[in-house]
Amino acid sequence: MITTTPIPLVTCRGVTRTYGSGEGATTALRGVDLDVLPGELTLLVGPSGCGKTTLISIIAGILKPTAGSVKAADQNLGFMTERSLAAFRAQHVGIVFQQFNLIPTLTAAENVAVPLTINRRPPKPSRTAVQHLLNEIGLGDRGGAFPSQLSGGQQQRLSIARAIVHQPRIVVCDEPTSALDQQTGRNVMQLLRAHAVQQNRALLVVTHDQRIFEFADRVVHLEDGRVTGDERIQRTPAGSLPQSEYVAPSQSPCP
Ligand SMILES: Nc1ncnc2c1ncn2[C@@H]1O[C@H](COP(=O)(O)OP(=O)(O)OP(=O)(O)O)[C@@H](O)[C@H]1O
Ligand SMILES: [Mg+2]
Repeated sequence: MITTTPIPLVTCRGVTRTYGSGEGATTALRGVDLDVLPGELTLLVGPSGCGKTTLISIIAGILKPTAGSVKAADQNLGFMTERSLAAFRAQHVGIVFQQFNLIPTLTAAENVAVPLTINRRPPKPSRTAVQHLLNEIGLGDRGGAFPSQLSGGQQQRLSIARAIVHQPRIVVCDEPTSALDQQTGRNVMQLLRAHAVQQNRALLVVTHDQRIFEFADRVVHLEDGRVTGDERIQRTPAGSLPQSEYVAPSQSPCP
């Protein structure tokens, strides 16, 4: 049988990041080498302060490394201007922030639609795609609510929908289930993993949540700014979740 190794969608080499300078400097990452493969869920775990948020922010093109290189979605982020990094993020990256970062003056539906608006997708299919995702996350009837009128868990689900609505090639999530109950957490992880597997996207999730581990294909351990472990989780059959657990979302109408 011939097996081919997938080409990584993200390649980090020697990534180092120091905040500040002189006496007060903090080195958050110390030479991280990491490839993130498409079509699977990679978890990034490690103690508080070990550099997880720093690493996914660099991969997402929000933060620049002090040293080292990052290639993501075929682009070498180190050589890009702020303007082209912004365009890269808008087109290729979906981000679920630790603090959700919803826009308070926009409704739930408008918040989810932001990446489509930025990418100038046509309005009608965009509205359909947003409603489809709102239904998927159980907020189909709350599209007109403002974030302040929603619970923390509902806001977190909106931020997850916003991260995948434009079908980005790379999705990074910082503790995406921290505000969710058991069943809702499972539902959003199934939605996120389906996005990665069915569309062959890279999905990198920072978590302390043991409940997420059953969805992982791979677990990368970070400690004190270094990768200290990299485990592949065996799945049967052919990389799928147990049949009883897997709920395939309907086809997204988003172009
Ligand atoms: N803006 C900043 N200025 C200075 N130091 C920072 C900044 N952001 C992070 N750090 C430091 O960098 C290190 C790594 O921080 P980071 O937020 O990446 O950790 P983390 O693994 O995400 O932690 P947590 O699990 O608590 O979210 C920490 O020592 C932190 O104090
Ligand atoms: Mg963090």
